[in-house]
Amino acid sequence: MDLTVNGRTVGVSAAGNVTLLDFLRETLALTGTKRACDRGECGACTVLLDGKPVYSCLTLVNACAGQSVETIESLGTGEAPHALQRAFAAEDAAQCGFCTPGQLMAAAALLAENPAPSDADVVHALSGNLCRCGTYPKIVRAVRRAAETLRVESSGAHHA
Ligand code: FES
Ligand code: FES
Repeated sequence: MDLTVNGRTVGVSAAGNVTLLDFLRETLALTGTKRACDRGECGACTVLLDGKPVYSCLTLVNACAGQSVETIESLGTGEAPHALQRAFAAEDAAQCGFCTPGQLMAAAALLAENPAPSDADVVHALSGNLCRCGTYPKIVRAVRRAAETLRVESSGAHHA
């Protein structure tokens, strides 16, 4: 069976118990997606499945047939970081950084649906993503900063 990972079609022949997290990290060497609890409690492993955030440690890769997976590697690069990544840096929202890829993917899903989230919207959308370093206020500020940047950029694009 096939699935799409970051826009690329990937064939999968995996045992029935292989998780999407294992497949991404071990088979595709996409190690930006983190493993922390490995049992659906922390959100470090969050990726987008057909645009919706899921815990990849709880998702069997064989259940993703025909679907589209996006990981942190698709969000931006060191040379061209996404607005969310720029905002996390500007707000100092990553301390150890281990939770950050999951936070960013959950935030990306939020901004795709709601370009102008309130603080409460951000807290709600990221409620499944724990941060042991406790940078929650900075994360909320960063997501709202990125939302504003994207709104300004898209209004500029409309006027161009
Ligand atoms: S590693 Fe998947 S939820 Fe913690
Ligand atoms: S920045 Fe360390 S766990 Fe969130």
